[in-house]
Parts: sequence; structure tokens; C-alpha cells
Amino acid sequence: MAGSTFGERLKVTTFGESHGEAVGVIIDGITPGLELDEAYVQIQMDRRKPGQSSVTTPRREYDKIRILSGLFEGRTTGTPMCIMLNNTDMRPSAYDDIKSMYRPGHADLTYEKKYGLRDYRGSGRASGRETAARVAAGAVARKLLERRGVSVLAYTTEVGGIRCETFEPDAIERNLVRACDPVAARSMIERIEQLSANGDSCGGIVECRISGVAAGIGEPVFDKLDAELAKAMLSIGAIKGIEFGAGFQAAAMLGSEHNDQMDRTGFLTNNAGGIIGGISTGADIVFRVVVKPTSSISVLQQTVDMYGKEREIVTEGRHDPCICPRIVPVIEAMACLVIEDHYKRQAALLDE
Ligand SMILES: Cc1cc2nc3c(=O)[nH]c(=O)nc-3n(C[C@H](O)[C@H](O)[C@H](O)COP(=O)(O)O)c2cc1C
Repeated sequence: MAGSTFGERLKVTTFGESHGEAVGVIIDGITPGLELDEAYVQIQMDRRKPGQSSVTTPRREYDKIRILSGLFEGRTTGTPMCIMLNNTDMRPSAYDDIKSMYRPGHADLTYEKKYGLRDYRGSGRASGRETAARVAAGAVARKLLERRGVSVLAYTTEVGGIRCETFEPDAIERNLVRACDPVAARSMIERIEQLSANGDSCGGIVECRISGVAAGIGEPVFDKLDAELAKAMLSIGAIKGIEFGAGFQAAAMLGSEHNDQMDRTGFLTNNAGGIIGGISTGADIVFRVVVKPTSSISVLQQTVDMYGKEREIVTEGRHDPCICPRIVPVIEAMACLVIEDHYKRQAALLDE
């Protein structure tokens, strides 16, 4: 009911606010006997954590995780796993000046309309900080998927109108924006730094490629694999749209161009993005999401306060001038959770 739980056979529930004591996740349905340690999860946490570079928020969180349950002698027990991270660099007082105002682009107004009150300290649950818990859970799902030969890779393809022209997988983790084209990455970084110096922000596009998924995974009709991935992605703050395969370009294509023809070796193209009828085809699952420009900007903007008075607002503080570099591991995490959940659903269907 309350919207903090995701998944059916591999179920995750996240908790915690941006400037509260801690954030964390409870994961239920993990296969027992999986070799796992905190260091494996920490690798993914370090990719998402704040304070990584000049193009991310300077908030200093080490995001050191602790696995509190569900692990014994280096193996999962099959019982609920709780992973927690303490918030260490909270500055709730930074929000004192704006606590009665609704920041444009933020969930301030909508949370207050829904609950009648809100945690104004850095967006509470609506903060990007909540996604740390998802990345922890996603790391566990990734480990389960490794055994199935499935890999998930996301990367930035566009920032502030600058597009990648090449796809160089080795370059992705070597540039600050996690772009797949190292030359475009340099222009993207310059653009973000320039905008950030002017107190503004920009958005972009992130592509995700899931390889090794067997044909036949997905649950028609309401739980189609593409529908589930779309829900997972749109549940991440700042993601505003998603397309699979040829995506919106399909509108201008002919049926004869868009159909993925087959020969004995498989599909000749992948305009479907690896999913037809909500079920995986065996080809790579490919989708792109659009990431909106960060709402917190120090450009003067117009708003209203909780008393209905018109006000002017400048959002000072520590923010990501572009969310793309830090959202990449979150996208991978949510993709891992969806795919592993659907593998488990398929196993249940076949009564394995
Ligand atoms: C990893 C991550 C980091 C984020 N950092 C910021 C930030 O520094 N400033 C900000 O205004 N929004 C940030 N956001 C986006 C907000 O969480 C989001 O825009 C807000 O909750 C409103 O929700 P919506 O954009 O999905 O409608 C971040 C999101 C993610 C996933």
C-alpha cells in the first residue's frame, strides 16, 4: 500500500530520510547459500556516493554499509537481509531558511499535500539519498544474476545537449560523467562545471544494456518485463521518461524497417530492445531514460510558501549540478532487481 516496497519474489523495502539517522533496505527472498560480503556491495555504493568529483554534490558521505542480518559465514541464509548506512554529513539547519517554502521542481508541495506535513531536511524520502538503499539491494541482485550469466551496464549518452558519438565500454568508469564516449565526456564535464558556476543545472540521457537474459522471462500482461523495468526506472527521482530499443524513433519507421527479422542464428536487428509481448527475446535488453535537470539551483526563482504568500527563492547548499553520473549505478541496481525478480517468478511458474 504505502509504496516503499518493490518486487514480488525478491522483495525490497527501503527506509530512511536524507538528513535523518540512517537509510537502509530489507531484502526478502534472497536465494540461500550465495557467497557475499560487504566489500562486494560497497563497490556499487562507492560508485553512487556523493562527493566523488567536481560534477557531483560536495556532500561528504562515505556510504559505508553494514549487513545486519541474512548473512552467516560469508553466505546468504535465505532469511531477510537488512543493509544499513548511517548518514554522517547531515546539515538539516541548511534548510531552516526555506522550510516554509515550496522549492520549484522538488516534491515539497506534493508531500505536504499528501501527508499534511513534510520532512523539509533535504527532501526527506524524496531525496536522491534514498537510492543508496536501492544500490545496496541491487548489488545483491547483481550477485545472483552473475550466476545466471546476466550482466547489466548503464552509461551516460547525453548531457546538457552534448551527445556521445562513440561507444567505448572501457571509458565509462574512467570519466566523471560515466559517458561511453571519452571525447564527448570532456565537453560534458566542461558544460556542467560552467552551468554549476552560474548556479544552474542540466539533465541528460542514460542508456542501459542488460546482456545474457534467456528468452522467455517476463509476466504478461500487467507485469510485462518492459512495464516492470519502466516502473522501476520511473520510481527513481529525476527520471522522466523511458524508451526501449528503437523507442520513439519507431514513430517514423515502417513496419518493414522496425520488425526484427530472424534467421537460424537469431535476430538480425534489435529494434524491440530485447522484449516482445512483455517477454525477453534473448537479445540484449536495451533502454534509455531521460534525467531531468537538477531542481536545486541557485538562480533566483518564483514560488509560494505554505501560507500562500508569493516568495522568491534561491536554493543554496550542496547539490548535484547534473544527476547523470550518480544515477547510473541506481539504474543498474533497479534493472538487476527487476531481472532477478522475474527469473524467480519464472522458476516458480515452472515449479522448479
Ligand atoms: C542519485 C540522485 C541524486 C540526486 N541529487 C539531487 C540533488 O542534488 N538536488 C536535487 O534537487 N535533486 C536531486 N535528485 C533528484 C530528486 O530526488 C528528485 O528530482 C525529486 O525528488 C523530485 O522528484 P521527481 O524529479 O522524480 O519528480 C537526485 C536524484 C538521484 C536519483
